[in-house]
Amino acid sequence: MSDKTDRPADEADNRIALERQSADAEHAAKIAGDIPPRAEPDAPAAPAYRRRTRPGAAVQEPPSTGHEWDGITEYDNPMPRWWLWTFYATIVWAFGYMVAYPAIPLVSQATQGLLGYNTRSAVATEIDRFAAANAPVQQALVAADLEAIPADPQLVGYATNAGAALYRTWCAQCHGAGAAGGPGYPNLLDDDWLWGGTLEDIHLTLRHGIRDPKDTDTRYSEMPRFGTDGLLAPQQITEVTDHVLSLSGLPHDAGRAALGAAVYAENCAACHMDDGSGDRGQGAPALNDQVWLYGSSPETLTRIIAQGPYGVMPAWSDRLSEAEIRSLAVYVHNLGGGE
Ligand code: HEC
Ligand code: HEC
Repeated sequence: MSDKTDRPADEADNRIALERQSADAEHAAKIAGDIPPRAEPDAPAAPAYRRRTRPGAAVQEPPSTGHEWDGITEYDNPMPRWWLWTFYATIVWAFGYMVAYPAIPLVSQATQGLLGYNTRSAVATEIDRFAAANAPVQQALVAADLEAIPADPQLVGYATNAGAALYRTWCAQCHGAGAAGGPGYPNLLDDDWLWGGTLEDIHLTLRHGIRDPKDTDTRYSEMPRFGTDGLLAPQQITEVTDHVLSLSGLPHDAGRAALGAAVYAENCAACHMDDGSGDRGQGAPALNDQVWLYGSSPETLTRIIAQGPYGVMPAWSDRLSEAEIRSLAVYVHNLGGGE
């Protein structure tokens, strides 16, 4: 630019030179793509919902279904092809399925289906397969001498698994999911047993139950209902309750307990023993320990002595197979308190 002032030149030449310069610059920019190509003047863009038509033909609206809501009408456009064919395919599939598999309910059962498949028989086959696979070990379990089972790892492994499953089905509702029991239902985890904790004892308890009227070989004993049947006066029951509390070192009234000792010796010692250690032969719990079947509060003890406990455990020999009962016996024996 400085030459312009330095060298006063012909005005026209100068303008031509300037025009050239700017034309060159525009050209260079166009080549570099800086300047967007100028938009061609053309027809206003057609609204998207209009159908494409031949040039010159009048723009057509799609036909309407005739449905109208608040002035908004519904176009009757065709469904997309892919959607339609998928839909037809599902119909064909459904017919094929109905012919091949049991599908249509009839009066007593559904149609059988050409493939003859049926979930019920599939389950039955599956159960048979497992039963067949387990049969040998079950036979061995039943044939084995009870006391010899703990020495056989294969039998113990099977019995523990099967016993755990059986326990959840048949026993958990009374003895608790974790076998810790509850009031009236003994804890099976500890080594405090009413009727005995050897494998033989547990097996017998399971087979025949406790006080189950349906089983003639059931374990049986009955603590008298000292209050209900008027065998003891209320005063004597209070006294013997204090004596029972004293046997296990619980807080008690020493004076009443001393009087209760005589009542105890006369009415209770035959089953619960002089020192309160209990008698497994009769299922009479120890009263001199900290483990209680029903509870240790004075109210509970008074109620049990007055009304008599009568715990019933069902016999299982009519419901479970010998292999199942043995599995349960091994499982319970292994819970922690087995003798
Ligand atoms: C309807 C409730 C009930 C069911 C179900 C039940 N039990 Fe019992 N079970 C009892 C009661 C109650 C006693 C305690 C009876 C008594 O007071 O002497 C008991 C006692 C026992 C004993 C004796 C405990 C001891 O200290 O000597 C064993 C072992 C036992 N149950 C195992 C089982 C197993 C295993 C099953 C599952 C097959 C089972 N029970 C199912 C209620 C039940
Ligand atoms: C014929 C035997 C017998 C005689 C006699 C007897 N009991 Fe029992 N007692 C049992 C038996 C069996 C049980 C457990 C019964 C059951 O669970 O259903 C029991 C349970 C109890 C319990 C509940 C223990 C616990 O752990 O919750 C108490 C308390 C008790 N007896 C106190 C007495 C007292 C006190 C006397 C005397 C006044 C007495 N019993 C006399 C057999 C006897």
